[in-house]
Amino acid sequence: MSTQRIFVTRKIPEAGLRLVRERPGVDVWEADAPIDRASLLSRVRGISGLLCMLSDPIDRELLDAAGPGLKVISSYAVGLDNIDLAEATRRRIAVGHTPGVLTDATADLAFALLLCAARRLPEGERYVRAGRWRTWSPTLMLGRDVFGATLGIVGFGRIGRAVARRARGFGMKVLFTTRSDPPPGEVQGATRVDLDVLLAESDFVSLHAPLTPQTRHLIDARALARMKPAAILVNAGRGALVDPAALYAALKEGRLAAAALDVTEPEPLPADHPLLGLDNCLVVPHVGSATVQTRERMAVIAAENLFAGLDGKPVPLCANPQIY
Ligand code: DGY
Repeated sequence: MSTQRIFVTRKIPEAGLRLVRERPGVDVWEADAPIDRASLLSRVRGISGLLCMLSDPIDRELLDAAGPGLKVISSYAVGLDNIDLAEATRRRIAVGHTPGVLTDATADLAFALLLCAARRLPEGERYVRAGRWRTWSPTLMLGRDVFGATLGIVGFGRIGRAVARRARGFGMKVLFTTRSDPPPGEVQGATRVDLDVLLAESDFVSLHAPLTPQTRHLIDARALARMKPAAILVNAGRGALVDPAALYAALKEGRLAAAALDVTEPEPLPADHPLLGLDNCLVVPHVGSATVQTRERMAVIAAENLFAGLDGKPVPLCANPQIY
């Protein structure tokens, strides 16, 4: 039997990379930068398995370039918006991903962003480092109360619900929107409302919906206009959930107090992007799941999904189980 070729588009943490390298026929993109499109299209030719990143567009062109031998795509992420899932399913290619394992790390990061923006921590830190801290002041760097405030969670999947659990510890009132009914027992005091009510009543809005054609720019000028001027927007979901031009205008004109973003459109955000010129906009580089433990677990899961697909077994964390 001929060796099944595998392409890995980026070095993943050693716990998973070691496993993958044990298989014959493995080709790893070794550079510490995303693979360019031309190299990707050429390196996937004739492969049976692909281990890819959320920054790699996996579309029809790529599937054609890989050819009919491609059996499994294992994504080192939970989000699937970079993958043409319908097309992969049509071709009966299994798509693995990493749900569950990164829920708590991502919820921690979303809550950290919320706290940082509410209490203006990045601004305060810049102020101290710039040598501007002269005295205690009754009006210096006043932020917003988190304790007792209303948090609106857009998307009440695993990560949204994990954010709600953290909010409970801060005595927050939690509102949420969701497409599908949350599992029984998981609502725990939170109230399901429609998006307009959530936007109008929340002091903090945190985005955890998947990016789909329906949710692209869900937070646009109209949605931002419904929010309280003192509200804070947190995005640890996908950058394109928010219209960046509308967000810039709302922050600049004081129609929204602050935003804290782990994800942006585009990604990475260029250093001269207008949002980075605003003191009330905090941006970090898509690090929601970036803890040593979580990224190692994701790497092992990605390897296990890949191997199952190559060996003709059901992929354990499969995004398109209907192919079986
Ligand atoms: C994901 O997995 O989709 C996150 O955005 C990064 O870990």
